[in-house]
Amino acid sequence: MKALIEAAVAARRRAYAPYSNFLVGAAMRAEDGSIHAGCNVENAAFPESICAEAAAIAALIAAGQRRITAVAVVAASGVPCTPCGGCRQKIREFAAPETPISMADAEGRLLLERRLDDLLPDSFGPANLEA
Ligand code: THU
Repeated sequence: MKALIEAAVAARRRAYAPYSNFLVGAAMRAEDGSIHAGCNVENAAFPESICAEAAAIAALIAAGQRRITAVAVVAASGVPCTPCGGCRQKIREFAAPETPISMADAEGRLLLERRLDDLLPDSFGPANLEA
């Protein structure tokens, strides 16, 4: 978990957030143990911005991985940066309900730990389409 948070801290430093000035880093551990990080990338057309979690998921998938086994999200705020609703659903596509999600500050201090199903109970996922 320490390495995951460190990767999110490093990615956060590279965030592009000139509009909100709210820099976020995220890191996802894949099934093979590899770590994939991302940061938020904002856009002058605000809705086109990308969350850090979405960027990290894209990196994990592009690396050939398909499962997320742990997540870290880092922001400078003392208030834990919990993933937004859309990112909870994006994580859910590739993660199990018990997947740990750790939120830390910009120095990597752990602020909050949750499971995916704490943040997104009774979620809709790939199995719903098979039912
Ligand atoms: N943001 C993330 O990247 N992840 C989160 O979990 C919450 C919010 C970004 C989106 C936007 O660039 C900025 O933080 C302010 O909302």
